[in-house]
Amino acid sequence: EKGGFEHFMLKEIFEQPTVLQDVMRGRVRIEEGQVHLGGIEDYLDRLKLSSRVIICACGTSWHAGLIGEYLIEEFARIPVEVDYASEFRYRNPVITKDDVVIVISQSGETADTLAALRLAREKGALVMGICNVVGSTIARETLCGIYTHAGPEVGVASTKAFTAQVTVLYLLALTLSKGRTMSRDEIKLYLKDLGKVPQKVASILEHNDLILDIANSYKDARNFLYLGRGYNFPVALEGALKLKEISYIHAEGYPAAEMKHGPIALIDEDMPVIFIATRDNSYAKVLSNIEEVRSRKGKVIAIANEGDEEITRLADHVIYIPAASGPVTPLLSVIPLQLLAYHIATLRGCNVDRPRNLAKSVTVE
Ligand code: F6R
Repeated sequence: EKGGFEHFMLKEIFEQPTVLQDVMRGRVRIEEGQVHLGGIEDYLDRLKLSSRVIICACGTSWHAGLIGEYLIEEFARIPVEVDYASEFRYRNPVITKDDVVIVISQSGETADTLAALRLAREKGALVMGICNVVGSTIARETLCGIYTHAGPEVGVASTKAFTAQVTVLYLLALTLSKGRTMSRDEIKLYLKDLGKVPQKVASILEHNDLILDIANSYKDARNFLYLGRGYNFPVALEGALKLKEISYIHAEGYPAAEMKHGPIALIDEDMPVIFIATRDNSYAKVLSNIEEVRSRKGKVIAIANEGDEEITRLADHVIYIPAASGPVTPLLSVIPLQLLAYHIATLRGCNVDRPRNLAKSVTVE
């Protein structure tokens, strides 16, 4: 059942090229610039007229929500807020009938997310779900929704469900843009970028041995810092969460530019820092953050784009990923971080599929 892999988590990481194709199957016609999401069809007009989108989720699904914020704002120009479901429901949020509340949940059973959706419904918002488990409580109680179709996720640490959620959010953002902020030709270009992702993910998985070597060098570290900007900021949070969940090493993710507002004080020769330094509009700034870490003797592991020679001068280790446009980058940059967390945890003898104190679905508050 683990398909020849030692753990479900590793199997699920390696399934991602297929899963991402499954998410798009029957929904995307690249050449025509068409996206068809059957589960929200009846509500599309209302969705496009919404004055605001509020995304509620927990954990990894909340990280996907942050990427969703960047995608929906960039593509569809609708303002988006992202909230932890547990905070949203207890702070007497302002919700109106013109709002759309999107709840994201792999299991579809998370107690706080379910309660957030019930609250939003009571206040008259249009409530949409992005769930993986078909027929789950959240999927049933939302008015409309999109399934991620990632297949059963057994490993407690979410991997393929996360990339499937981000892919769904990308398709949703394009759907909301159609006829409003984007022409069919523009949508086609963005779909082309997305269409290349499964193959690119497969090529990153080929770096598995290199990532195992890097894991060997850092498995005894006590702390890790993960830094990224823009679309890679939520990926930094997700990389840190994966590591702490399964290896029990303390890790924090930050937007790279926030480093100098506090975390830089932590840097010394015992502190590995993972930089997601892809070539986008903040690349130069991230490079100067790398210099700052180096000058304080911190160890640097960089996720960079293929062909980037400059980075080898600055980083102790580089994991290359194929070049891609900003909006699809998180689907690529998260893959090495999943593998790094997996290998560090297994090298430390941890049970990666069933980490201590964690449950696959959190049905208590
Ligand atoms: C992280 C992880 C948790 C879940 C969170 C939400 O690897 O598994 O942080 O993402 O408990 O779960 P769902 O998505 O089922 O609502």
